[in-house]
Amino acid sequence: MTVKKAVDLLAALALNQAQGSLLTPSDTPATDKPPKLRKRDLVELNVDSLAYGGRGVSTLPDGRIVFVQRGLPGDRVSASITKVKSSFVEAKTENVLQVSPDRIPAECPHTDDCGGCSWQELPYQEQLRWKEQQFADSLGRIGGIDIEPEPIIGADDIWAYRNKMEFSFGDGPDGDLRLGLHRRGSYWQIVPLEYCHISPKRMNEVRSAVLQVAVDSGLPPYHNRRHEGFWRQLTIREAHNTGDLLINIVTASGDLPKEELLEALAPVGASTILWSITDQQSSTRIDSVETLTGDGFIEETLSTRRFRISPTSFFQTNTRMTEVLYKTIREAAEIKPTDRVLDLYCGTGSIGISLADKAREVFGIELVEGSVEDARLNSRLNELENIEFACGAAEAVLEEHHSSGGFDVVIVDPPRSGLHPKALKDIVSTRAPRIVYVSCNPTTLARDLAELVLAGYSAVRAVPLDLFPHTYHLEGVVTLDLVT
Ligand SMILES: C[S@@+](CC[C@H](N)C(=O)[O-])C[C@H]1O[C@@H](n2cnc3c(N)ncnc32)[C@H](O)[C@@H]1O
Repeated sequence: MTVKKAVDLLAALALNQAQGSLLTPSDTPATDKPPKLRKRDLVELNVDSLAYGGRGVSTLPDGRIVFVQRGLPGDRVSASITKVKSSFVEAKTENVLQVSPDRIPAECPHTDDCGGCSWQELPYQEQLRWKEQQFADSLGRIGGIDIEPEPIIGADDIWAYRNKMEFSFGDGPDGDLRLGLHRRGSYWQIVPLEYCHISPKRMNEVRSAVLQVAVDSGLPPYHNRRHEGFWRQLTIREAHNTGDLLINIVTASGDLPKEELLEALAPVGASTILWSITDQQSSTRIDSVETLTGDGFIEETLSTRRFRISPTSFFQTNTRMTEVLYKTIREAAEIKPTDRVLDLYCGTGSIGISLADKAREVFGIELVEGSVEDARLNSRLNELENIEFACGAAEAVLEEHHSSGGFDVVIVDPPRSGLHPKALKDIVSTRAPRIVYVSCNPTTLARDLAELVLAGYSAVRAVPLDLFPHTYHLEGVVTLDLVT
């Protein structure tokens, strides 16, 4: 498109917004005035690529990027503008005018509404291709890292792969009680699920059974804005290798129909059923927990190791792919029997425990106290005596621990926000010959890698992995060596 045509198109947008009509390049009047896009304007867009975060990407005639919700590469869509910034625009697909040749029918009937999986309509090989490209782009363009990543490691099981699901209670427009996932882009609205295909069958059965008991109870869902009501959340954890099943029902204080729940859940064979009560605004801050049946935790195995997992502890949510991830980390770390290893952001200690037989010593640091308790218990379960854990924020406690002895290998697996600047500084001052950075966010990974390279490290290997088929989420393992 020529510059003149581009200016015309933007001008026409301004003229059109008054009528709210759909703009096409063919009906663009000529004017010199640069137009202003406004919220709710309708535009036609060709979607060319996919951004990290799951949205399609198109380009306006003035060069501005448009992030298009529910647009896939190859689609031509009519979309309404939802946000206008000087450097980018956001839009929501209203109609697909020309369907991308890559589109396939979604497995899930809720794909238009549910915020869970946004790429179900892309064949899995295409999903992998885009993730591979996004990983390479992040490292190269954001991080300025001169490395060609290895091909992405995809998942063998692309359905029913999750070992943990969190469903929320809510109500529909007719006051019907719902137990499902949040509507895309909404904090309040719940999609009433028929079946969730990334959850195993037993989790779907648990959700249906709990919903039926909740409906029969006549008690209302908890309303986050008004802070009243009873039913709040349902968390289910199913250990892939042992078959253990943990069900955690979260409510406000009141009378739980315990007998009815235990009876309804008997066929699914749960190893633990918990009732967590909270009257706090956030349902993650629990006031008290009653164990209705079982030990209060589940056990899972990864390769030859056993892991106890409590309801609130972090554990990777795709068990099969976690085994692949940990194998990739082991290869990257190349641990020698004389090595002292730091497992920073260690959760329940699962990475350190998986490597401990190769190392002289492993030291884990983790913020959440319950996870550290599980990590200590897990090291005893696996009869490991060369592993210790400290509880605290990496940025607050690493300095004191690395001054007590150096590390040969540092493994970091931070949350999506990446490394805290103070933690990054302290990691660098360990001068560990090797760092293995495990990341679930290529954007913050790239930012942190740039800092590590400035501090004298060089990225020698980068491996993207897909732990979350049908979603935009992307895992990566980058190996860095100290060069200066
Ligand atoms: C992506 S998880 C990794 C857990 C573990 N490495 C695994 O593979 O299961 C990130 C972990 O970092 C912990 N965490 C978050 N902020 C932290 C901080 N400032 N310092 C230490 N740990 C933190 C979280 O509680 C979580 O367990």
